[in-house]
Amino acid sequence: MKIALFASGSGSNAENIITHFRDRNATDIEFPLIVSNRADAFVHERARQLGVPSFTFSKADFENGAVLRLLQQYAIDGIVLAGFLLKVPASLLQAFPDRIINIHPALLPKFGGKGMYGSHVHEAVVANHETESGITIHAVNEHYDEGTIIFQARCPVLPTDSADEVAAKVHALEYRHFPEVIGRWAKGLTK
Ligand code: GAR
Repeated sequence: MKIALFASGSGSNAENIITHFRDRNATDIEFPLIVSNRADAFVHERARQLGVPSFTFSKADFENGAVLRLLQQYAIDGIVLAGFLLKVPASLLQAFPDRIINIHPALLPKFGGKGMYGSHVHEAVVANHETESGITIHAVNEHYDEGTIIFQARCPVLPTDSADEVAAKVHALEYRHFPEVIGRWAKGLTK
């Protein structure tokens, strides 16, 4: 299976996913390209160091078929959103039905929806005095953070935890679980 990684920022998950499968010499899953909506995202530097091509597209390009054409050129079978902050347009959802998954840094349905991304999520978790947080990996549909949940993992949030400390715990869960969940999900995709 050929999987495209979409990322908007640092790209630490994208890097972790690629190195996870490289370290295992996986032959049944490939990550031939990274797609971003930000030219200045650090994910491009990570991609360069990994030797993986990365591309930047405008919001309009995601909607007008430019991104879709690139994905078709690379014969992409599925898409993993790894810190990707644009809404996936209907045209891509139609082209990849049930073939797009996202990771969200909280226990959905809590702390999801528009504006809930990255540090905003962890700040909201702390402000709400939550006693736990975690990760949710879910199928992507036309609503932010509302597709079928595939996997969740939890971590405790202590009363003394800062948003940064919660973020560190959540990132650790992401690095530990996301590649394995992707591996299982990709096995279920048919050509
Ligand atoms: C990750 O924590 C991911 O769960 C989150 O953005 C971070 C990206 O980190 N995604 C969202 O908030 C989506 N709503 P990374 O760029 O270092 O992988």
